[in-house]
Amino acid sequence: PDKSKFDISSDALCELPPRVDRSMSSVTIPPPACMLRPLEVPLRYLFGPGPSNVPPRILAAASRPIIGHMHPEMYEIMNDIKRGIQYAFQTENNMTIAMSGSGHAAMECAVFNTVEPGESVLISINGIWGERVAEIAERMGANVHRLVKTPGGYFTNKEIEQAIEKHKPVLFFLAHGESSAGLCHPVDGIGDICRKHNCLFLVDTVASLGAAPIFMDKQNIDILYTGSQKALNAPPGTAPISFNERACRKMFNRKTKPLSYLFDMTHLSNYWGCDGKPAREYHHTGPVSGFFSLRESLAILAEKGLEESWKKHTEVVAYLYKGLEDLGLKLFIDLRLPSVTTITVPDGYNWRELLAYIMKHHQIEMTGGLGPSIGMVMRIGLMGYNCEKTNADKALNALADALKNCKKSKS
Ligand code: GLV
Repeated sequence: PDKSKFDISSDALCELPPRVDRSMSSVTIPPPACMLRPLEVPLRYLFGPGPSNVPPRILAAASRPIIGHMHPEMYEIMNDIKRGIQYAFQTENNMTIAMSGSGHAAMECAVFNTVEPGESVLISINGIWGERVAEIAERMGANVHRLVKTPGGYFTNKEIEQAIEKHKPVLFFLAHGESSAGLCHPVDGIGDICRKHNCLFLVDTVASLGAAPIFMDKQNIDILYTGSQKALNAPPGTAPISFNERACRKMFNRKTKPLSYLFDMTHLSNYWGCDGKPAREYHHTGPVSGFFSLRESLAILAEKGLEESWKKHTEVVAYLYKGLEDLGLKLFIDLRLPSVTTITVPDGYNWRELLAYIMKHHQIEMTGGLGPSIGMVMRIGLMGYNCEKTNADKALNALADALKNCKKSKS
């Protein structure tokens, strides 16, 4: 073959496969060598804050043959997903769907649809998720007010109410599962405060759903979302979200169109059969295999039962706490998420070295902090399928080994 055409001399990796004669080829960019190798994916224990390992049953669901995103069978599957989310969220809301996208898609969908440019929003920030929502709201032109604490900080209902009285927001955001700090924030009473002040209550349960109790209807949460890849154990890429009637009234009586076409709930509510119209119109092509796997993950949760799932997470994490304390490690906060545990970076150690050691020698992913908690914590997540004492033992054994073998060389 006439290789000179491609000038590949500087990159041995891109050498053309000898058996292909490309002398007559019209393409000037050769096929990359990496694309001619088979896909390789290592087996890892995903004991960080997500994604978590996906059980074979869910992987099998994802590998079922593709059907059209607008076939009647697909609509049935989407209807099942809606029922599964209603159970997981403990809500009867009709406006319950799954986003084609990660938890961020649900976050943007919530803000884009319920807030109009210039409106006031109040965001509690005690880790990365409040920071993200504030940035999203700012980008779409909202008037953003921040209620800030150090990572893992807790807001009293009184503080929240005072800030709502002061800023008169149309939306108040709280992360129930603040995974960057390992915090499970109490929610009781906040929905009532929001109602009293004509404000919508938006709650993020990406890291907590299935691991810690949440009752959307009873707790007067107006908008709730989660992700697929944490305690639900589905692959990343879909995100359940639900809006109650108060939220629907606000979002379907806007003066302006939402910034995003893809996340516009007028279209998504039709795509998910929630708008009462007889026909579903084409809006976008949903992630068909992602929906198969989400359905399977919600089916597993329904079979197991929410209470059983909460109990399991509580038991396993208590076992993990004890093991961590026995290793001389310090838990970072008191109001802890049962799904993601944060430990203070042990004195004298470089957290990056510890984590790299654990990955290299034990094939276990644990992570450092995220956003404002970087450098403060290390995070261990045992979620859903991964939530077993045997996995806690694996994590503890790896940590003990790393503490013994990593130099004390504070970064
Ligand atoms: C992501 O959700 C994380 O907490 O790292």
